[in-house]
Amino acid sequence: MAQRETWTTRAGFIFAAVGSAVGLGNIWSFPFQTASNGGAAFLVVYLLAVFLIGFPTMLIEFVIGRRSKQNAVSAFEELGYGNWTIAGATGVLASFITLSFYSVVGGWVISYIVGSVTGGYLGNASGYFGGVSSGLIAVGAHALFIAITIGIVAFGVADGIERATKFMIPAILVLLVGLAAWGATLPGAAAGYSYYLSPDFSVIASNFSSIVPNAMGQAFFTLSLGFGVMIAYASYLGRDDSLPGDSAIIVILNTVVALLAGFAVFPILAATDTLTGSTGAGTAFIALAGAFGQVPAGQVIGFVFFVVLLFAALSSSISLLEAPTSYIVDSRDTDRRTVAVGIGAVAFVLGIAPAYGYVGLFNDFVFNIMLPIAVLLIALFAGWVANREAVDELGRGSTLGEGATTVWLWWVRIVVPIAVIVTLYLGVMNFGGNLLSGAYF
Ligand code: PHE
Repeated sequence: MAQRETWTTRAGFIFAAVGSAVGLGNIWSFPFQTASNGGAAFLVVYLLAVFLIGFPTMLIEFVIGRRSKQNAVSAFEELGYGNWTIAGATGVLASFITLSFYSVVGGWVISYIVGSVTGGYLGNASGYFGGVSSGLIAVGAHALFIAITIGIVAFGVADGIERATKFMIPAILVLLVGLAAWGATLPGAAAGYSYYLSPDFSVIASNFSSIVPNAMGQAFFTLSLGFGVMIAYASYLGRDDSLPGDSAIIVILNTVVALLAGFAVFPILAATDTLTGSTGAGTAFIALAGAFGQVPAGQVIGFVFFVVLLFAALSSSISLLEAPTSYIVDSRDTDRRTVAVGIGAVAFVLGIAPAYGYVGLFNDFVFNIMLPIAVLLIALFAGWVANREAVDELGRGSTLGEGATTVWLWWVRIVVPIAVIVTLYLGVMNFGGNLLSGAYF
């Protein structure tokens, strides 16, 4: 068997992981989830979820990946706990399903880049969305998006993923800073910032049962946790650097990008009076495209915005494809290119359903059901089953003392599972309610 690949540098790993984390979740979902869940009140809960639950959970995935040097499915067997394979398999399946609809939304982004060039959505925001979001155009754009994703993954860990993300992440950061600065010049900036940044705590109290699962789901999704992706990425680590250090950088950069996206989006929404619109999959595209039609230089700004979104989406979709690809490449002696094309092709076919209007169904199923189950399983595994190995691996290459690793262990044993069980319960109620009320069909 060919030797397993590794990242060429520590920074290469960090860029790739940040690339996975920074995606549609940060720039598309985050500002709109925040807007529709009460603004700053949601932001507070979301930040708590990211740092208190997301950060320690990322360490679980890193520990499993680096210790086993295997994909998320084989990792458990490799560590000597074959019974727990289901924990990783759930995540890899979630990756595959997510790839299928993520690519459809990625296709929308491509159509909006085209629309920025032609001016197609200016003055006709909802009509344009209707035209590109489902049907043959959506299928075609979805095909193009997944083909680019396959192309990058086929080149491999270092020559494909690492090289692509090393270029895309700095580009995203620079362009977003520019967009946020431009947002500051809009007449709605002050009103936008105030809704975004001054929390009204009574909003949290009265919307607890929707804010908590939304914030937790968003935290897992944005950090790419529960998909086996971070296990796969950490399995390509060649040396033992500090996992808590790497993880802190990744979580902070991911948060910075989401916050910056808010600084770009809220002034635009406030300037066009669309601050508290609802958040269907399409509202974000319609609201923003509508706003770009009304502000000065909107077409240019729109172009830049959608290019940023495309980079973010691609640097995430490659990780969604890598999780199942690494499983097949590790477990059979098959050529990576063939595997990437094969899995990408099947995801393309599955994505035809969301390309005909079922993005919401796919999204909510993964968000509300699969992610919490996958995270719960890996947390129980690391906390109660492979706890010695987990603590030992966490300590390797880091300056954390025994006190800190013990706190982490108990946090993973008790706090993370409780938080996830509450989220899962609320998520099942939410998803079940939507199914029964026919919201998806
Ligand atoms: N984190 C990505 C985002 O915020 C989505 C993603 C989830 C990517 C899981 C890879 C794995 O858009």
